[in-house]
Amino acid sequence: MFWNKKENLDHQVELSGDYLLEVRDLNVNIQVEEDTLHAVRGVNFVLRRGETLGLVGESGCGKSVTSKEIVGINPGNCSSKGEVLFRTKTGKVFNLLELEKDGVTYRALRGTEIAMIFQEPMTAFSPLYTVGNQLSEIILIHEPGTTKQQARERVLEMLKKVGIANPEKRIDQYPHEFSGGMLQRALIAMMLCCDPTLLIADEPTTALDVTIQAQILELMKSLQKEFGMSILFITHDLGTVASMCDRVAVMYLGQIVETGSVRQIFHNAQHPYTRGLLKSLPKMNQNRDERLYAIRGVVPVPVGLKPSCGFHERCEECMAGKCDSMNVEPVEVEPGHFVRCLLSEEGKVRA
Ligand SMILES: Nc1ncnc2c1ncn2[C@@H]1O[C@H](COP(=O)(O)OP(=O)(O)O)[C@@H](O)[C@H]1O
Ligand SMILES: [Mg+2]
Repeated sequence: MFWNKKENLDHQVELSGDYLLEVRDLNVNIQVEEDTLHAVRGVNFVLRRGETLGLVGESGCGKSVTSKEIVGINPGNCSSKGEVLFRTKTGKVFNLLELEKDGVTYRALRGTEIAMIFQEPMTAFSPLYTVGNQLSEIILIHEPGTTKQQARERVLEMLKKVGIANPEKRIDQYPHEFSGGMLQRALIAMMLCCDPTLLIADEPTTALDVTIQAQILELMKSLQKEFGMSILFITHDLGTVASMCDRVAVMYLGQIVETGSVRQIFHNAQHPYTRGLLKSLPKMNQNRDERLYAIRGVVPVPVGLKPSCGFHERCEECMAGKCDSMNVEPVEVEPGHFVRCLLSEEGKVRA
């Protein structure tokens, strides 16, 4: 199944007051030879201005496909349906799915309003030019009329801001002369040169070791305070979410299965999948010899799915004849806390 769309810029769309981004019923199919993968299946979420939303789930749950669809960089074998509403700095609202992926409007948005940082910062830089040149280039494109000297000074300022020591030397070095952590900092500096309102960070620290990881997360938090952007923070590690995010959306097999505030998710998790993820986190007082809990089984490939809860095969609380044979809609168990599970009833939090 492949969905075709036309660019339509005049179409009027409405976005509620303080929302920067609203994803409505997003579906993404990926065609792989004869098979259609239903990688994203009816995803809904909002991101308010200045807010950080954590999108969490194991590898293969559809987090990256969702985020790439927002930025418009999924490959040609992907097709999508639904709405991705985004409010620009001038207050205009676009349904990003209706924009031509390589068209002027989308390209301008990617350069000035929406930025994305990835797990592997190396791929964002060209090995042929110095880090300083690549950052200056962005400023020059972005702010016509800037002189090369002014751009260089701005780059130095940005490199300092992201905590790169000795920026006067670093600015003239090539990407391969940077460590992974330094390069991720440089990538964040590059992103700041565009002054985005929306930052999508897809596993930005997964490739880094733990101490560097913590430093990069701290850096992102302080920059968010200073620049006031909204962040969609994507991770497979629920552990990093508590300190980074205001709200959390838990994703499983292409669907959001639970969403709520950090407090609601960490203290009142309702979905067996979320509970499983929490249980698999290492604890402070954990005995070294004690084996960590792991959710049994693996995330299935989203092909030929039957009506059912996506998690039923791995769920310890699966109700035979129900969870394995009908689709499950989300219910609100407390204000702002939604769960897609037959064990949850509207207005009722499980102990
Ligand atoms: N380019 C692609 N071609 C084929 N399958 C893909 C492609 N990208 C993602 N997938 C599949 O789509 C599903 C969701 O992938 P992804 O969004 O990358 O997961 P996550 O980011 O949560 O780890 C997985 O089953 C994955 O194998
Ligand atoms: Mg991913």
